[in-house]
Amino acid sequence: HRDPVAKLLLFGATGDLAQRMLLPSLYGLHADGLLPERLTITGAARHEHDDDQYRAFAKKALDEFLPADRKDEGAIGSFLERLHYQPTDLSDPASFQPLADKIGDVSGGLAIYLSTAPSLFEQAIEGLASVGLAGETVRVGLEKPLGYDLASSREINDAVARAFPEERTFRIDHYLGKETVQNILALRFGNSFFEPVWNAQGIDNVQITIAETVGLEERAGYYESAGALRDMVQNHILQLLALIAMEPPAHFDGTDVRDEKSKVFRSLRIMKPEDVPHNTVTGQYGDGAVGGKFVKSYAKELGKPSTTETFVAIKAHVDNWRWQGVPFYLRTGKRMATRRSEIAIQFKAVPHSMFAGRGGLLQPNMLVIRLQPEEYIQLLVMAKEPGLDRDGVRLREVPLNLSMDAEFAGSRRRIAYERLLLDLIEGDQTLFVRRDEVEAQWKWIDAIRAGWTANDTKPKSYPSGAWGPSAAIALTERDGVTWQDD
Ligand code: BG6
Repeated sequence: HRDPVAKLLLFGATGDLAQRMLLPSLYGLHADGLLPERLTITGAARHEHDDDQYRAFAKKALDEFLPADRKDEGAIGSFLERLHYQPTDLSDPASFQPLADKIGDVSGGLAIYLSTAPSLFEQAIEGLASVGLAGETVRVGLEKPLGYDLASSREINDAVARAFPEERTFRIDHYLGKETVQNILALRFGNSFFEPVWNAQGIDNVQITIAETVGLEERAGYYESAGALRDMVQNHILQLLALIAMEPPAHFDGTDVRDEKSKVFRSLRIMKPEDVPHNTVTGQYGDGAVGGKFVKSYAKELGKPSTTETFVAIKAHVDNWRWQGVPFYLRTGKRMATRRSEIAIQFKAVPHSMFAGRGGLLQPNMLVIRLQPEEYIQLLVMAKEPGLDRDGVRLREVPLNLSMDAEFAGSRRRIAYERLLLDLIEGDQTLFVRRDEVEAQWKWIDAIRAGWTANDTKPKSYPSGAWGPSAAIALTERDGVTWQDD
């Protein structure tokens, strides 16, 4: 059931995310004729722009961030006509009335996109409610970070809930907007042959990696107080884990999909402080080289010593019937050797090898779902090498390949935010995160942080361009498991 709004209000309209992602995404939807015809977009931020100045600002962002083959001057022109602007200071209650006046009538529906520091959330929501921008026809999209632990996230959720019921609250995790992430659902629930082995009998372990080559970028203020666990694991990695681990939902809709994900989060084994040191590894990048270029350590970029982790690896467990005894190895880091987001599912070895001694070792099958930068799915299987060997058969691991890039070469790669903005505008919550999910995620995260504090755990240094500290390798090797494809 889709219910498009007539107006979109974009907070943070002059920020980095708006320039790189939101404006190009909205333009993409516009150019493809997917936006409601009458939709107007009002930007709000502290800058003193008027409508025309904001249109010029948006034009510049599109020039810079749209791929050349997407630039259509006609479409850009008509897109810019949708844009309006109102200077707004979220921390100033007097800012909201002029904003409401600018937006005008919201009876045709208003979607608000709110991306702000957690410290401003409550004021922003209160301000909106105080001028009638939270009524029944208004929905709100919230960008991360939604707090920094369970208590602060509850506080934000409570503040939001005072003005917006859950059915009108859209929590964004941009990973859910990625095509390849949604494809996990298609792979699992659109095919019959994975599901029978998709459990502790069939699967030995699951590995989820989000490796980045970038460092601190210009986000010291935020990142230094967040760290890799809060920045990437609490949201993106746990969402990927849930899509892999959840039971088949009855319907592809916001209620059923989120019910099943939520059950997974509630099944995550909460670590006791004494379990944390041998189930987690933290690191911080030092000087090193990424892609052949020298880069400085985190501390040097920051300009002071720090104990914030830029890398984390975790051995997690989902304590339910399906997944008993199957480790989920999770890792993410900045300044790693290559940019790669990937899920690797290692199946159990064959129960008996008739080739033993006559053709080498069998590798267990593995399903690799590469989310980025390339988009492919590979099933690694054993095959016979051609040849007339007299003393047996020579076996080798070979990939069955599905390259999404090649298979769907004709279709444009969309920005994750295109999907999410469209769903926000049309009111479909399937790919947004529900309150119970976020809170169960934080509960599990907080236990890990408490363990680090109790054990006085400090991140180990790793050279930029490595796959984290060596302890991360030991985390899996101890169990006889090797991280896929390092
Ligand atoms: C964001 C994190 O949520 O995700 C960033 O705050 C990270 O630190 C980014 O770089 C990664 O997103 P993507 O889509 O580039 O994998």
